[in-house]
Amino acid sequence: MAKIIVTGAAGFIGSHIVEALLQRGEEVIGIDEFNDYYEPMLKHKNIAHLQLSPNFSLIEGNIQFLDWQTLLKDIDVVYHQAAQAGVRASWGQGFRFYTERNISATQVLLEAAKDAKHLKRLVFASTSSVYGDAETLPTHEGICPQPVSPYGITKLAAERLCGLYHKNFGVPFVALRYFTVYGPRQRPDMAFHKFFKSILQDEAIPVYGDGQQTRDFTFVSDAVAANLAAATVPEAVGEIFNIGGGSRVVLAEVLDTMAEIIGKPIKRNHIEKAMGDARHTAADVSKARKILGYQPQVSLKEGLTREWQWIKSLYS
Ligand SMILES: NC(=O)c1ccc[n+]([C@@H]2O[C@H](COP(=O)([O-])OP(=O)(O)OC[C@H]3O[C@@H](n4cnc5c(N)ncnc54)[C@H](O)[C@@H]3O)[C@@H](O)[C@H]2O)c1
Repeated sequence: MAKIIVTGAAGFIGSHIVEALLQRGEEVIGIDEFNDYYEPMLKHKNIAHLQLSPNFSLIEGNIQFLDWQTLLKDIDVVYHQAAQAGVRASWGQGFRFYTERNISATQVLLEAAKDAKHLKRLVFASTSSVYGDAETLPTHEGICPQPVSPYGITKLAAERLCGLYHKNFGVPFVALRYFTVYGPRQRPDMAFHKFFKSILQDEAIPVYGDGQQTRDFTFVSDAVAANLAAATVPEAVGEIFNIGGGSRVVLAEVLDTMAEIIGKPIKRNHIEKAMGDARHTAADVSKARKILGYQPQVSLKEGLTREWQWIKSLYS
């Protein structure tokens, strides 16, 4: 049985990875500091049911101050999901959280990983934000990254650190550049969560800009499947993969789909475009398809329906 660490285990994507691993009978150590970027109570809810499993143990602490040498001694795979996410909050005073949680925390982990004898894979959660306003759509991994947000800069720095530790010390990393992930347990600062919450409270939905921006939305179980493949496929080591939902959607159309799901029209409140938001994102996932066997399974309508069910149970 493989021994596995998931960092950011109580977060949105991390908690789903833990769940999938436990369902496969794996032994998982989750690490999370439960910081207050958003309500820690939500993070405790994310993993409450997972803590019932005898195969799961939780370490509550900051990655930067843990004894990684000891932790990694008999670990086969690390899914490094912990980070300071969010594009908008990365401007201004909050930037130091981004350098600490995205760059420094990753460096500490990589330093220990270079001496970890058992370690077969370190899967790093990267982001489409490294591309910024990419000129080529759909965007493939060979495009030169040009982040348009401080968040994207820190994630790119961390991704590049993984590359350096791979080249110099053989750390077996794989980076997955997620394109907007959604589904149950989505972070409360993310658009669909905010939209559904507003609908539930009968408030107008805040839409940044003209609503004509496009995104490649990835349902969380598809992102999880990509992680599991990244941890096992031998050819994945040292590679970077786009992980998208398979189709590019205009935000305004997403709102129409949401209206269909909830069965009533949606009130919209257009607000100014946020700085650091890319206008369009679209993933070319052909590399992930070829090497990881990645094939997104969940349609936007189905995925949104599942998130709506979760939001209703969370807030009512
Ligand atoms: N959600 C998305 O659409 C998306 C898109 C692209 C990339 N990503 C990346 O995926 C990963 C997971 O994102 P998420 O949406 O689940 O975020 P999240 O905020 O829900 O989860 C991250 C978790 O990491 C923990 N954490 C942060 N710094 C830590 C530290 N130093 N020590 C211990 N714990 C720490 C937080 O408490 C949090 O629970 C992140 O690396 C993020 O950059 C997410």
